[in-house]
Amino acid sequence: MASFVTNHKAPYDALSPSLPGRSLAGKSALITGASRGVGEHIARGLAEAGVSPIGLLGKDKARIESTREKFGREFPQTTFVAFAADITDAEAIAAVFFNFGAPDILVNNAGVFPDEGPFVEQDLKEWFSGFETNVLGTAIVTQRFLKIGDRPKDAIVINVVSMAAHTRFPVPGWSGYSGSKMAQARIFENIRFEHPDVRFINAHPGLLDTDGFERCGAPMPPGGWADGKLTGGFFAWLATEEAAFLSGRFVWADWDIEELKARKDEILEKDLLLTTVDGFNKGF
Ligand SMILES: NC(=O)c1ccc[n+]([C@@H]2O[C@H](COP(=O)([O-])OP(=O)(O)OC[C@H]3O[C@@H](n4cnc5c(N)ncnc54)[C@H](OP(=O)(O)O)[C@@H]3O)[C@@H](O)[C@H]2O)c1
Repeated sequence: MASFVTNHKAPYDALSPSLPGRSLAGKSALITGASRGVGEHIARGLAEAGVSPIGLLGKDKARIESTREKFGREFPQTTFVAFAADITDAEAIAAVFFNFGAPDILVNNAGVFPDEGPFVEQDLKEWFSGFETNVLGTAIVTQRFLKIGDRPKDAIVINVVSMAAHTRFPVPGWSGYSGSKMAQARIFENIRFEHPDVRFINAHPGLLDTDGFERCGAPMPPGGWADGKLTGGFFAWLATEEAAFLSGRFVWADWDIEELKARKDEILEKDLLLTTVDGFNKGF
């Protein structure tokens, strides 16, 4: 599959948070699904760029507490706050924002890979569980955030979606997961017009060796796993001013950021990196 720009598997120099313009010191973040896997890598990337406080949200209380303790030892200068809440529980999410306040950076990472197989054989309740967490849960968190009257100006909301949303994903039996990730992406592409002050970004985190991926039954990626530091570094970059031109678009965390920046004018002029129908004009 031809890529938009060069793909990486490991972190590279241009992602360094110590480069000029890369510090996120003074910014706060809330990351859902931060107890393990992709969310943990994103939390580490933001902490390395100076974000503090960082709210870590997971479903399992013991696991999110243990992750907070681990991060506390790793980043003694950073404040971490753990929240155990189910993102599909609107009251629990309202309480999280009440206690943490409105972050500068919200990362909607919590997600599930439902048990799948051929669509025709699916128990549709199980099939739909991916939509409940990935779509409804993400909508609950995002709406609650947007309702906060005094949320920071120029807030950034990043949606962790998946290449499964828009590629011809070569694994049959993933209709629920890929459909839920496409829905997540489209919702962001639409609500960005209602909140021009907010930077919404859809980001595929790369293919990472996580509990979630292991459970989902997909084959190991032919090119091997991405390094979580690559994902963390890319997400931190997404929250910098350099990446502001990507507002509303769909990106992959393993893409080379220098090549992306070099294509900025083309991306904006041709309105690229949106979900559309191949070969058809983009509408209005
Ligand atoms: N791994 C990959 O290669 C890959 C590729 C593309 C996209 N993604 C996306 O990346 C995200 C994270 O995936 P992962 O591989 O890291 O999965 P994971 O290892 O299963 O971790 C999932 C995280 O989400 C949390 N979570 C799940 N349901 C929740 C709920 N209802 N409320 C609150 N928290 C909930 C889990 O909390 P607990 O620990 O408390 O259960 C955990 O922290 C997902 O959105 C997934 O679609 C992953």
